[in-house]
Amino acid sequence: MRVKKAIIPAAGLGTRFLPITKSMPKEMLPIVDTPNIQYIVEEAVKSGIEEILIITNQNKVAMENHFDINYELEMRLRESGKPELADYIHQIGNLIDIHYVRQKEPKGLGHAILCAEPFVSNEPFAVMLGDDLIVNEGKPALLQLLDLYDVKKNTILGVQKVPHSDVSKYGIVEPSHPVLDSADRFKIIGITEKPKISEAKSDYAVLGRYILTADIFDMLKQTKNGINGEIQLTDALKMMIEANRPVWGCHFTGNRYDIGDKFGFLKANIDFALKRSDLKESLIDYIKKLAKTL
Ligand code: UTP
Repeated sequence: MRVKKAIIPAAGLGTRFLPITKSMPKEMLPIVDTPNIQYIVEEAVKSGIEEILIITNQNKVAMENHFDINYELEMRLRESGKPELADYIHQIGNLIDIHYVRQKEPKGLGHAILCAEPFVSNEPFAVMLGDDLIVNEGKPALLQLLDLYDVKKNTILGVQKVPHSDVSKYGIVEPSHPVLDSADRFKIIGITEKPKISEAKSDYAVLGRYILTADIFDMLKQTKNGINGEIQLTDALKMMIEANRPVWGCHFTGNRYDIGDKFGFLKANIDFALKRSDLKESLIDYIKKLAKTL
């Protein structure tokens, strides 16, 4: 069965980005002038996904408005001689079918995914986290996972190597055998959320892209509340592995920015601005001048 649906959980509290996340989901934080979630949706579209479900909380209005058509704005842009900008704004509303469901309490990523069960029913589905912005000139990260799913027909976790000193920030996988840096796939026999550096089984972290099969819902329902009383996706994946259901790591290519972290967010903004013809020169001038004062 082809994977046609993707879920974007966007109902977290975003405490690392308070106070802005008091009234706005962190998925709407701008990378220069474009909300982060738009890049995630575009990656899904380029990967062949046909429908998206965004899991939201009470701050969903900003996202709904962004992916809707705004006739008044378009009309004003056309009247003021900006038809190209009007066309661009219009196509954001037509990118893909987007549905929304509310997670009533922030009970963790696993709980957010459970809210999607009626939407996906028995189909395999993709999960994409807005925290991980992945830039790839070639095949989008999600498409790399989907290609592996087409071969394996089992759970696929998007992984990349992280610095050994950072393993305690991530869900770290245990590969079935030592992995060469060039390997693009490997079987996973264990997974631990935020392990101690001394206990990590590898330096491969799960980074915001998953293909899950519908049996994850049974696992999530059996998962006990973990840290902060939240239902952790990692615990359900661990159960899956322990039940001998095959889980594969897809070592995807692409530059990944951790947008959920302030420094990652700043780096993404600088790198994206440096690629923009309207900003590049002035930004380089500014950075050079600034560097002399540091
Ligand atoms: P995070 O733990 O990174 O998000 O969850 P957070 O809780 O919003 O961030 P901080 O740590 O407080 O700053 C990973 C993803 O899961 C979603 C988040 O929106 C994020 O995309 N999530 C998390 C939910 O949808 N619901 C939840 O209850 C928790």
